[in-house]
Amino acid sequence: MLIDIIAGARPNFVKIASIIHAIKHHKKKIKYRLIHTGQHYDSAMSKVFFKELNIPIPNYNLKVGSGSHAVQTAKIMIEYEKIINKKKSNLCIVVGDVNSTIACALTAKKLQIKVAHVEAGLRSYDLSMPEEINRMATDSISDYFFCTSMEACKKLLNEGKKRKNIFFVGNTMIDTLLSNIKKLRKPKILKDFKSDRKNYYVLTLHRPNNVDKMIKLKKLIEAICHSTNHLVIFPMHPRTRKIFNKIKSQPHNLLLTEPFPYLEFNYLIKHCMGVITDSGGITEEATVLSIPCITMRENTERPETIKLGTNVLIGNDIKALPKYIKKIETNNWKVSKIPKKWDGKTGDRIIELIIKKISNDLQ
Ligand code: UD1
Repeated sequence: MLIDIIAGARPNFVKIASIIHAIKHHKKKIKYRLIHTGQHYDSAMSKVFFKELNIPIPNYNLKVGSGSHAVQTAKIMIEYEKIINKKKSNLCIVVGDVNSTIACALTAKKLQIKVAHVEAGLRSYDLSMPEEINRMATDSISDYFFCTSMEACKKLLNEGKKRKNIFFVGNTMIDTLLSNIKKLRKPKILKDFKSDRKNYYVLTLHRPNNVDKMIKLKKLIEAICHSTNHLVIFPMHPRTRKIFNKIKSQPHNLLLTEPFPYLEFNYLIKHCMGVITDSGGITEEATVLSIPCITMRENTERPETIKLGTNVLIGNDIKALPKYIKKIETNNWKVSKIPKKWDGKTGDRIIELIIKKISNDLQ
């Protein structure tokens, strides 16, 4: 059986790592081609993840780079189609919700290759976000659905997907976190600033809605930094950096950095007082590490991080920040639990299911 595994952007690398490591135990049954679309191309956004997470060099790099959504998606489709035309695989595995996910799912499906979506069934129903469009479109044409929660499975059933093709397997991003937890590395910045256990926050912002307008980004950063006396460490996504460079003054407790490698970023999360973010994946990592998390979004496709986990949603309500910061700083954050099957074994479950249940369906 030949499988294509697609990865394009930073969160994808974290998700595919566990699937690739799980395949190692079944080399005789599964061959795979790792296809990097090149959506993320900076060393800090891509190469370092391959190195740290022990992901092999991709068999193909489509090198599509930046562009509008249409340009990026179209370029990926054109390049991936060429690979399939050379040799057809039996299954295409896509993960998450980025442009590379929908682009490759669509290309494979139209060439009659079955598609498996890892992290299927997540829904925020907020179609102003490209990721939600990518999730819905990918699920609408996928054949097999690997879900991080029962709630996601139920959503797919309600959308008319066949029960036999929906699998509650857990979370591959958490596999990667748990398998690297002992290897997490203290970033140099903590040594330099003598800032260590639980006396700083980590801030990440990269959603277009939060960062694409300079005034909005400035207000958000100021509100966050003014609601605490502690250091706020802000590893900046390239998208955010472009806009941030136009802002003249910065709060005194803001510490700007480049994006961190995986092992350093998760060290920072594990040892911080709290996370303030607009990412989805980080809310899951904070939940597993029992770190309070404030999400600057109006909605989430990951409700278990709120119902069970450490996450709260505050959207654009910057006035709510001091209340939640106080809860963190007085040790009054909610008690949390780790969602079911977020146990480090999801990649193995996916590969077992592919071998035992799905392989019979594949041409
Ligand atoms: C993408 C995903 C988002 C994911 C995020 C993680 C989509 C629609 N969005 O958003 O779901 O959470 O990745 O990071 O797929 N850039 C660089 N260097 C890089 C990568 C990007 O400078 O290595 C710049 C590009 O010039 C571009 C901007 O960052 O202008 C945005 O990159 P893009 O991949 O389009 O989307 P993200 O905002 O990263």
